[in-house]
Amino acid sequence: MLSADLIIEHASELITLAGYHAGPRTGGSLRDLGLIADGAVAASQGRIVAVGPTPQVRDLVRLEPASTVVDARGCVVLPGFVDPHTHLVFAGGRADEFEMRLRGATYQEIAAAGGGILRTVAATRGADEETLVRLGLARLDRMLRCGTTTAEVKSGYGLSVGDEIKQLRAIRRLSQLHQVDLIATVLAAHAVPVEFKGDPDGYVAAIIGQILPAVAEEGLAEFCDVFCEEGAFTPDQARAVLRAGAELGLVPKLHADELSDQGGAALAAEVGAVSADHLLYSSEDGLAAMAHRGTVAVLLPTTAFFLGLPYASARRMIEMGVPVALASDFNPGSSPTWAMPAVISLACVGMKMLPAEAVAAATINAAWAVGRACDVGSLEAGKSADMLVLEVSDYRELAMHIGAPTVRTVVKRGRVVVQ
Ligand code: NIG
Ligand code: FE
Repeated sequence: MLSADLIIEHASELITLAGYHAGPRTGGSLRDLGLIADGAVAASQGRIVAVGPTPQVRDLVRLEPASTVVDARGCVVLPGFVDPHTHLVFAGGRADEFEMRLRGATYQEIAAAGGGILRTVAATRGADEETLVRLGLARLDRMLRCGTTTAEVKSGYGLSVGDEIKQLRAIRRLSQLHQVDLIATVLAAHAVPVEFKGDPDGYVAAIIGQILPAVAEEGLAEFCDVFCEEGAFTPDQARAVLRAGAELGLVPKLHADELSDQGGAALAAEVGAVSADHLLYSSEDGLAAMAHRGTVAVLLPTTAFFLGLPYASARRMIEMGVPVALASDFNPGSSPTWAMPAVISLACVGMKMLPAEAVAAATINAAWAVGRACDVGSLEAGKSADMLVLEVSDYRELAMHIGAPTVRTVVKRGRVVVQ
């Protein structure tokens, strides 16, 4: 008999998404939720020990005294959301820019006028690590309440050795202090800072020569990302940064084709990026290269919605065999939300993903996008016991109640952290 200290039982629908060994989900397998009626999950010391129909799991495990028993009758149970693309650590706000855009200004016009990312850079440079941690903790509380149990967080509001390191140290401390597990990405190539205005190549040289080595030296990031876009970095600059990062052991990611087609999808495939993110304007050829290489497409529908841009072609990507994941892109400018349920709603309504596809994209495929598929994203023996109980009995309703998250209970590493 297996010993357990937590059991969630009698879920109307238990969504396991089991079978991660087969790799990121593509095509029809994205719809395969591994759904169990009257399902149960048992865990011991933070790890899942049994998953199956409630009577079967009850037979398999012996509950220790003082175990936690969660009755999920009438509820859906699924893995905690993995948010594989956020810019969670920043100071300051940009509410005035939101209003400017409502009056007709574009995101690019605001950025060109010194607003946008560079404004958040100025505010973030002005904040110390302590302040960034305090702001981050409050945001993580909100994310957790919306069901996110693992998140990737990028730097990119520092843009100098000292300020990028400060942001990444804040991310590391946040991951230690908070229940949500964080995965750090260095995004020094987010924008050209004022001190390099007119000399983007000079800044790229500084990224390659100073920032990335300092980050790698301190072991502060796992991934390296570049904003490849007109007004940010060219494909050649992006390639140089990602190659330099890879040599230091930083796995490439890419902000690709967000505002225009820069050939970002193909570039991500070429450099062996784990994911290419956004992909609003990607070409067929670029997507085909990603499908061939198995590059995960991280789609960010709240960004398209918030900026009033056309959504990424999720249906086409799924048809072509690209593994699709979903993320919030949480940041103060282009996607000021941390709610994965809202991301899932817009993925369905805006991109015509089926609710089952959206759920898989926000859990197991999102875990693949951040190299965590062996630990989170599905409910299988051995994995971290990160689970959500939703106050709905049909998982499709998760996508239907737009703006009204249905998360009732959050379990992180076998402990109830939101009730
Ligand atoms: O993913 N595109 C670049 N980075 C973010 C926006 C960051 C910001 O506006 O502060 C994005 O959309
Ligand atoms: Fe982003």
